[in-house]
Amino acid sequence: MNDVTLRLSGLTKTYLQGTPGEVQVLRGVDLELRAGEAVALVAPSGAGKSTLLHIAGLLDTPDAGTVEIAGQDAAGKGDRTRTALRRQDVGFVYQFHHLLPEFSALENIVLPQLANGISEKAAQDRAMQLLGRVGVAERASHRPAALSGGEQQRVAFCRALANNPRVLLADEPTGNLDPETSDQVFAALMALVREAGLSALIATHNLDLAARMDRMLRLDGGVLRPVE
Ligand SMILES: Nc1ncnc2c1ncn2[C@@H]1O[C@H](COP(=O)(O)OP(=O)(O)OP(=O)(O)O)[C@@H](O)[C@H]1O
Ligand SMILES: [Mg+2]
Repeated sequence: MNDVTLRLSGLTKTYLQGTPGEVQVLRGVDLELRAGEAVALVAPSGAGKSTLLHIAGLLDTPDAGTVEIAGQDAAGKGDRTRTALRRQDVGFVYQFHHLLPEFSALENIVLPQLANGISEKAAQDRAMQLLGRVGVAERASHRPAALSGGEQQRVAFCRALANNPRVLLADEPTGNLDPETSDQVFAALMALVREAGLSALIATHNLDLAARMDRMLRLDGGVLRPVE
């Protein structure tokens, strides 16, 4: 199907951990994420959510299996091709914002666009527009340390969406926030996802937030299972 933006097939990943030996975190993960679909990824701590998201986002490689993004198979591709694919088509959000501390909110959203060949003026316009959408335009010149946790995550969402990706991957994007802020920030993220019509795979421990997505998958014993 050509509206599948992210296809994971047969992903496996084992970490060598010294004694008592190795831990097989992924044992054959299959997933098809369609355009415009938001999917919740739920699982207990240590089940492998971050491992799965990093492999899906081409930040790590699987032992076996394939990752296909926007119809392009990343398996066996070199670093440059993988980096280009990631830059164009994947937005990634971490639990802790991972913004660059020496740069302003605006610059943090501009930089990935410059790396993608966008002009500075166009990148700034796009950054301001995104900041306005999540309600932090007036904080554009602040460095991350001068922003609240909720504001930092909103800026991180803008950065993830700066290059108009097809796929958004988020690893507990509101896990570091108090419940009320978490709710508001999550709503801002979903509004951006819906507006851009992109696909999202969002890991969360919060079942209320998970229920607001289109479907829920549980990572259980190294494979994904639907949650009814
Ligand atoms: N680089 C690594 N080397 C060795 N083991 C690792 C490595 N990264 C993760 N693991 C192990 O793999 C398992 C899955 O880790 P992962 O971080 O993917 O879980 P998670 O579901 O994201 O957990 P959490 O909810 O706490 O973030 C854990 O047992 C962890 O200790
Ligand atoms: Mg994790």
